[in-house]
Amino acid sequence: MLEGLLAGKVALITGASAGLGKHFASVLSGAGARVVLAARRLEKLEETAEPIRKGGGQAFCVSLDVMESEQIPPAFDAAEEVFGTVNILINNSGIVIAGKYPEIPENDWDAIVGTNLKGAWMMAQEAARRMIVAETGGSIVNLASILAFRAQKALSTYSISKAAVAQMTRTMAAELAAHDIRVNAMAPGYIATDMNSDFLYSSRGQKMMAEVPLGRYGALEELDECLLMLSGDRSKYLTGAVIPIDGGHALSIRD
Ligand SMILES: NC(=O)c1ccc[n+]([C@@H]2O[C@H](COP(=O)([O-])OP(=O)(O)OC[C@H]3O[C@@H](n4cnc5c(N)ncnc54)[C@H](OP(=O)(O)O)[C@@H]3O)[C@@H](O)[C@H]2O)c1
Repeated sequence: MLEGLLAGKVALITGASAGLGKHFASVLSGAGARVVLAARRLEKLEETAEPIRKGGGQAFCVSLDVMESEQIPPAFDAAEEVFGTVNILINNSGIVIAGKYPEIPENDWDAIVGTNLKGAWMMAQEAARRMIVAETGGSIVNLASILAFRAQKALSTYSISKAAVAQMTRTMAAELAAHDIRVNAMAPGYIATDMNSDFLYSSRGQKMMAEVPLGRYGALEELDECLLMLSGDRSKYLTGAVIPIDGGHALSIRD
């Protein structure tokens, strides 16, 4: 049913070398998009691309550090040359560095906010500029997090960056609507990836799992429906939404 949903679309996914981004790339390709895979580790991107190409999809890999503003326009140029204007951006790359607030070094703030917020802001700006020139319209999907809404000890900077991504989503949606560019965000709860599996499988992580109303952490596949809905044209009237996909975790229900 979803095959062909994104036919004719070009989707650029940042952080496609691992975790959610790697999965998103295969889901979007499966729905018919040509996918541009971006991250710093080119060899890992090629690992994402291989099964996509074997399955008949089209994937192009581009090495990109989203913190480096001068790398962004050439990455879009390269993608455009191969596939045409990017009309879906999945702003997924992100990092977590844990640390108690009184002890967080300035460098960690710069890396977290620089990657999760400024990097996503710069990518969306470049994508939007090009969609405006090409008059394609399009969809930008940002990755917020349950921690845009909840406070967790030792993850304050990450949470601040994700709360800002949520507000960035709303402000971009308001400004870009005139160009038929929709901007929404997914705010996943805890999904086991490289970023967090050490913690999730620790005894503290298992204790936290008991707080999730649905009683478990999420699986990658449980983000697919929302990703496809936000990326494709079947949700043409949906913009500025920040959608929790977290088993109810952000509700903070306690006995
Ligand atoms: N996993 C979860 O439970 C969860 C929950 C809520 C939100 N999220 C969000 O979902 C997104 C993906 O998380 P994940 O769990 O999949 O993380 P992950 O497995 O650690 O993957 C992070 C990805 O970001 C890329 N990346 C990091 N810094 C980058 C930079 N400067 N430039 C370009 N790419 C960069 C990495 O690629 P390279 O190292 O190759 O550059 C990697 O592909 C993040 O924004 C995260 O905050 C995750």
